[in-house]
Amino acid sequence: MTSKKPSQSKLPTIFVCTNFRSGVHSSCAARGSKDIFKQLKKLAKEKSGDIVVEQIVCLGRCEEGPNVRIAGQKIINSVGIDDLPSILDALLAAGNK
Ligand code: FES
Repeated sequence: MTSKKPSQSKLPTIFVCTNFRSGVHSSCAARGSKDIFKQLKKLAKEKSGDIVVEQIVCLGRCEEGPNVRIAGQKIINSVGIDDLPSILDALLAAGNK
C-alpha cells in the first residue's frame, strides 16, 4: 500500500486508518475500517459539507483499531459504525479548525 499524505486542509478533518496487513499482526482494515471510512464520509457529507474525511496509513496503534484521529486531537480507538455520529458531533461542537 502506498502512503498517503495527510490533508493540509483548514477544514475540520478526520483521518481513518485504512491500512491493511495480513498475517499475525492486526490492522485497522482487517477490522473493518474501510467500511468505517465510507460511512463516516457519507455521514459527514450529510451533517456538514465542511468536514473532510481522509484515509491514512497507520496511526501506530494497530492492535487497538479501527483507529480514527481528528486532526490536532487524540486517536480514537476501537471505532465502530455506531460511534460515528458522536464523533462527528464532538468534532462540530469543538469547532475544530
Ligand atoms: S493499521 Fe491502523 S493504526 Fe496501524
